[in-house]
Amino acid sequence: SMLLRHCASTSKLPLTIRQLLSSLQTVGQETKVQVNGWIKSVRRQKNVTFVVINDGSCASGLQAVLKPDITPHNLSNGTSVRFCGGLVKSLGRGQTYELQVEAVDVLGECNPEAYPIQKQALPVEFLRDNAHLRARTDINAAMLRLRDSVLRTIHSYFETQGFLYVHTPILTSNDCEGGGETFRVLPSSSPPLEQSPGSNSHAEFFSQPAYLTVSSQLHLEALTASMSRVYTLSPCFRAERSQTNRHLAEFWMLEAEWAFISHVGDVCHVVEESLKNVLAQCQSENLLLWKDGDEAKLNSLEDAARPGHAWTRMTYTDAVKELEKHHASARVGFEFEPTWGRALQSEHERWLSERLVGGPVFVTDYPTSLKPFYMRANDDGRTVACFDLLVPFIGELAGGSLREERLPQLVQAIHRHGLREEEYGWYVDLRKYGSAPHGGYGLGFERLISWMSGIENVRECIAVPRWAKRMLL
Ligand code: 4AD
Repeated sequence: SMLLRHCASTSKLPLTIRQLLSSLQTVGQETKVQVNGWIKSVRRQKNVTFVVINDGSCASGLQAVLKPDITPHNLSNGTSVRFCGGLVKSLGRGQTYELQVEAVDVLGECNPEAYPIQKQALPVEFLRDNAHLRARTDINAAMLRLRDSVLRTIHSYFETQGFLYVHTPILTSNDCEGGGETFRVLPSSSPPLEQSPGSNSHAEFFSQPAYLTVSSQLHLEALTASMSRVYTLSPCFRAERSQTNRHLAEFWMLEAEWAFISHVGDVCHVVEESLKNVLAQCQSENLLLWKDGDEAKLNSLEDAARPGHAWTRMTYTDAVKELEKHHASARVGFEFEPTWGRALQSEHERWLSERLVGGPVFVTDYPTSLKPFYMRANDDGRTVACFDLLVPFIGELAGGSLREERLPQLVQAIHRHGLREEEYGWYVDLRKYGSAPHGGYGLGFERLISWMSGIENVRECIAVPRWAKRMLL
């Protein structure tokens, strides 16, 4: 219509609802605006129809008021529309402004009989089956905005600390973590893989086995040895057999690596400071925990964000002592007996952060035998200079360490772990040419989102999740 053309934005990008609502000081009521979005709800009354539309830019969306003469019959939840009209102060509860619609353009109809996305909360499993429509739910859209906000804060934190944002390869030649959870990569047009593993089969595109990365750390170390401070956010892939609420086959990891540090506590410091920044920023944007009635979770998050609150640090040895004490004295102990030298189970990790500390806790200096080859040996000869960050309701959120920068110790560790030195030739090289003390960490991005949002499973903390036997789109 004429009106729609008249109020078409002069910019190539029309204003989003969020931009519109935040520019109301400059946009007068007489100004005609154009709003694009999808209908979230339709409430028909005798002389007026209230329609809430949203374009994903904010949580609230915008209420639009339509007179009967311009209200098409085919407006329903999910319909995409372009409305044109004036923004006025709303008399209704729940919103400050509403749009007095003067012209309606239905861009795409949405059959209400067939549309799977209902206004009321839908079961998690149903939404996983409809992953392509999941972003249309309020909770998933809020999660996506949270991811975006967290990322921006992280980037600005690292920028202020003098870190360089770098990109590392996804196709790699080795298993950084030595966990045996790598995905192998082959060209789809190649002949079938020969029986004996590791054979120089011509199926190998790179003339040697190639894997999807499980961690960017080793490559970050190569870059640290020149650029001093680097970080990246990269997809990581792990053929995780365990089906838990914190494991994905494809997830995003924030990894930072920097040179010229000599205490693992300095690594913890960066983790703590960056996360406090993220928490504070999301607090100010009102993005934390949306679920009502989760006071305990929200309080513990807000407490963690307090600038004056130094997060607890304790050694693995002390943590095990506490766990043993609890196991011996509690009426209901742990399923797995805590013992020095054994990995902490998820129940142990959660008890430490939720019960003993009541907040985030860095557990440091694990036994050498429990950790990957690259961690720096402590002088005690039986632990390494590392940490795991445990947080309430999640367990392990991040892990890091000083890296073994001493050549003989590194080579020894490679052998001790039964790794082939040839495979790590370039990594060992880094210790031959101007080796410098350095360290870093990796943080699971979906676990961070889960912790901050209260969304219980990481499968709901990423747009399109991947896990064993599931690859829907
Ligand atoms: O503890 P991880 O395995 O550490 C590393 O890979 C180091 N190379 C990182 C480094 O120091 N640069 O993984 C780090 C974090 C975990 O704490 C966890 O939050 C997350 O990555 N993570 C996963 N998140 C989702 N799904 C999975 N399958 C994950 N595996 C690890």
